Amino acid sequence: MTIELSMITPHVPSICHEDQAPDFQKGIVAGLKEVAKEIAQIGPDAIVLVSCHWPSTFAHYVDCYPVHKGFLTAQEAPDLIKDVPYFYPGDEDLANELVQAGKDAGLPIEGVYDEHFVWDYGTVVPLRYLVPNEDIPVINLSVTLAANLDETYKWGQVIAKVLRESDKKVVFVASGALAHNLVRGRHHMPTLAEHAMDKQFVDFVMNKDYRSAYDMLPQFSSMAKVESGGRHLAMLFGIIDEDWKPVYYADAQSSGSWNPLITFTKTKVSGEQENSKEEYVK
Ligand SMILES: [Fe+2]
Repeated sequence: MTIELSMITPHVPSICHEDQAPDFQKGIVAGLKEVAKEIAQIGPDAIVLVSCHWPSTFAHYVDCYPVHKGFLTAQEAPDLIKDVPYFYPGDEDLANELVQAGKDAGLPIEGVYDEHFVWDYGTVVPLRYLVPNEDIPVINLSVTLAANLDETYKWGQVIAKVLRESDKKVVFVASGALAHNLVRGRHHMPTLAEHAMDKQFVDFVMNKDYRSAYDMLPQFSSMAKVESGGRHLAMLFGIIDEDWKPVYYADAQSSGSWNPLITFTKTKVSGEQENSKEEYVK
């Protein structure tokens, strides 16, 4: 059928457990819950999620296993995220279609078929809010370090074509931050210069100038250390176009990183409410 909804979502580890979220990140918790309602209304057949915390070296991976079940203890923060259970269905057929389409396009795509494969927290944290009942099949994707932004963008276009031509309703999630030059102290904002770039990027996005947002990614990533080098964003830009309307839900800092929650929907003409949030970056 179609891609019903896409988004950039935060996955800051300090919101893994809602009761431990610091005050300045409670807005993104509330925003994720709002988006969860939208997803529930859509009733998608699958969620395709790329996570900055699944960095692969050479190949782009697609998790094709029919069920995702395990406990996550995050290697980089086992005190914050420890023994967190997850149990989501997968979608083997659609995942295999993605793998085949990627190979047909000449990209180095590999499927993962392993019941012991453990999810990362960039996947688990947002899904705990977006799909709290664990009742929507999930296909998760890696970000690939040997792939530049253009190749990742092209992979996004291939993914979009498969999803558009599928008979399923799909939601696409890009899990990751903008500026990501991390420092100790969760309350720290990005530096003024880094945050100026965050604001410009968000400004392009909210004005649907996705081409300019994409074009600034190489230098934005170099100067502000955008998470995964901006690959999750490049993939998203391969999926959306000017027909998609952005809606800004929330944002927060985390240890010098900037983490907006922005959704994208196909423009509808049925008197749909326009984005009412005028000031979208502090
Ligand atoms: Fe992250």
